[in-house]
Amino acid sequence: MPLISRLPIFTQELFYYQIDNLSEWQEKIQHIIMAEETNLKTEPSERCNVFAGRTDWNSHQRYKALDDLGTEIRLSLEDFIRKEGYDIPTLALHECWVNWYKKDEHAVPHKHDNFLAVVLFLNVEDSESYFFVHADNNAVLQKKETNHVTYNNLKQINVKDGTVIFFDGKVMHSVSANKSNKTRVTVAFNFVPIYDEIRHEHK
Ligand SMILES: [Fe+2]
Repeated sequence: MPLISRLPIFTQELFYYQIDNLSEWQEKIQHIIMAEETNLKTEPSERCNVFAGRTDWNSHQRYKALDDLGTEIRLSLEDFIRKEGYDIPTLALHECWVNWYKKDEHAVPHKHDNFLAVVLFLNVEDSESYFFVHADNNAVLQKKETNHVTYNNLKQINVKDGTVIFFDGKVMHSVSANKSNKTRVTVAFNFVPIYDEIRHEHK
């Protein structure tokens, strides 16, 4: 029998950092949730992947606090992109919305198309609800004589209040049902990379 070697293929990265002035953002977003729950109710009427309270897709155009938050996050990401040398000249905020998960509310596995997906976890530490990323459901070679599984297509991302994560929007992700009585609050953003100058190196 020939010597058969193994080579891991396809790795995927997710990036994260802690936001400044967490308590100020928590307070501002709480005001938005209160307004939405009492009379504004901008939640889209079409069914979506978030089975919880949420605001409309363009909430950065409806609420100044979200526009400011989107700008602050964009500047941090652009700084990181420049320092790391990634080929993303400018980011434009395309969509932004607030999610709040009460007991048993959740988000089913879904993707954010071609966007750079960003999530700020504002109030999550006291809720018993978790963020998961899912690998594609490829066929794997599984030994029949063992219960030990080396393949894993699901990963729990542990975050704190104030954690911002960003990742390729094509990565499948979900939020498990909140089993606590504490509301879980997150803010989601979809950014588009913009090439606003002629790419001379590709002429
Ligand atoms: Fe999502």
